[in-house]
Amino acid sequence: MLLNASGCLDALTAQDVARSLDAFVTKTITPVPREGNPAVRIAETDAGMLNSIGLANPGRERFLGETLPTLRTLGVPLWVSVGGFSAADYAETCAALDGVAAIELNLSCPNVDEAPESAAAIVAACRAATTLPLYAKLSPAAWDLGEAARAVEAAGADGISLVNTLRGLALDERTLRPKLARGTGGYSGPALKPVALAAVYACAAAVELPIVGMGGVRSGLDALELIAAGASAVALGTILFSDPAAPARIRVELAAEVAGRGLAEPLAARGMAHSSLQTSVSQPGNSMQKVPGNGDKVTA
Ligand SMILES: Cc1cc2nc3c(=O)[nH]c(=O)nc-3n(C[C@H](O)[C@H](O)[C@H](O)COP(=O)(O)O)c2cc1C
Repeated sequence: MLLNASGCLDALTAQDVARSLDAFVTKTITPVPREGNPAVRIAETDAGMLNSIGLANPGRERFLGETLPTLRTLGVPLWVSVGGFSAADYAETCAALDGVAAIELNLSCPNVDEAPESAAAIVAACRAATTLPLYAKLSPAAWDLGEAARAVEAAGADGISLVNTLRGLALDERTLRPKLARGTGGYSGPALKPVALAAVYACAAAVELPIVGMGGVRSGLDALELIAAGASAVALGTILFSDPAAPARIRVELAAEVAGRGLAEPLAARGMAHSSLQTSVSQPGNSMQKVPGNGDKVTA
């Protein structure tokens, strides 16, 4: 199952790209509109990009009244990414959502101040507010990600998304001052792949929840590696800026990788990186494979 990473695709501008996914994940929505951080908000680096967008979004009311009804016309299952500055912020947005495939709680944006509550407390508040599937998007910066995953599972999360960006800094080579107006930004792209693999590997060993793996995916092999580490779905982020046709290409590449290994489908590789997990997570029909979306498109 192939998704976009939140904030990396404008589905209304690139409708065909959105339709080529098994589900479309929205940009993170906050209770009140946000203009985001001042320009410059994007900087190229050697092995990835830095962004300090700062969750620019139209706010909950306009999203529910205008954006969401328009997104529904795409005919793609929708995941809504929810953000906020307190557990109540998150829970109120969850309570207002209906008729979407899943909610992804952005518990990990490095470009805004975080809610004071723990990720588990936010998940618990949201669990009480909605029956929709809840995915907790965690930061790769947590020291013990397995522990974080167990905490959000105990709080009622139905799945985990990994990883968000890591905080990074790029300096202008002439002035030696930060390139981004805000100083630091979220680092994404190819350099994040080993970080994402380690995060997915740690969480798959810790919990029996479906995992959406993301971070630096550029090819079918990258996607397969995340699945082998324990992901049950894969999301594309930074690659969509340079190659909007990536979803179709990566499906083809993934199918070739899978066939070349004599596997029946991508999810047959799930957990292969863990010798002890291999049998427990790759069984067809295992509940860990069920990620809300177009289930029939699970294979490449
Ligand atoms: C320009 C940009 C905007 C992003 N906005 C969001 C966002 O609103 N919410 C969120 O949870 N993640 C956001 N992300 C993080 C991505 O969803 C993803 O977790 C991260 O970029 C790692 O994947 P990648 O290396 O494939 O880009 C953003 C990333 C980029 C590059």
